[in-house]
Amino acid sequence: MRLDKFVAQALGLTRSEARALITKGKITVDGAVVKKADASVSEASAVAQGETLLSREEFVYIMLNKPEGVVSASEDRRDVTVVDLVKDDFPRRELFPAGRLDKTSTGFVLLTDDGAFAHDILAPRRHVPKTYQVLLDTPVTQEMVQAFQEGITLADGSRMQPAELLPSEEDPFRAEVVLHQGVYHQIKRMFGVLGAGVNGLHRTAIGGLALDPKLQPGQWRRLTSEEKAKIQLQK
Ligand code: URA
Repeated sequence: MRLDKFVAQALGLTRSEARALITKGKITVDGAVVKKADASVSEASAVAQGETLLSREEFVYIMLNKPEGVVSASEDRRDVTVVDLVKDDFPRRELFPAGRLDKTSTGFVLLTDDGAFAHDILAPRRHVPKTYQVLLDTPVTQEMVQAFQEGITLADGSRMQPAELLPSEEDPFRAEVVLHQGVYHQIKRMFGVLGAGVNGLHRTAIGGLALDPKLQPGQWRRLTSEEKAKIQLQK
């Protein structure tokens, strides 16, 4: 982004007011005065007016296509985390994943530093649905569909809310699952009770927002504000 646009947004100024500040030498980028209004800055740049660091947006919201083998955490001593995949671009943000995927699972992880938003979309009373594509080690049956609809009781006795299981029309081992709650290893445990093993699990949507199919595993991009709003919607 151009420096004058960044300064205008951060300080609520017009572009020409921002340019005037810049040409007067009032703005620094990474500690050095920059007087060129068209200098380019990124999220990683520290733009300041005097001692005050300017921040363009209060919070960031990132859609990541999590690859296999990466853990859903901010930091980990052994494994690469979802935050490690983006952190070079956001050195001053305290990002975390809003909802977890298992290390072996892939797909849509939302990264943000907005704790209230994350809390809201994860709150059980909000029932923000999560959609997954699953690959089983046995064909999907009508009994499984029925059991998901009724609500499965896990091996530890806890009863899950009804969930949707939609068998694929092309492959008997594949199905779509829609959950309205988030319990540790939930899908694997639900199928486990029914005698089926999960060989692949990929999250394709959170609320009404689908994972961008252009994002390859490990790739990410920021959400627009319209996309952020879609997360809070049903499918
Ligand atoms: N259910 C699981 O078992 N694993 C996931 O990663 C997500 C849902």
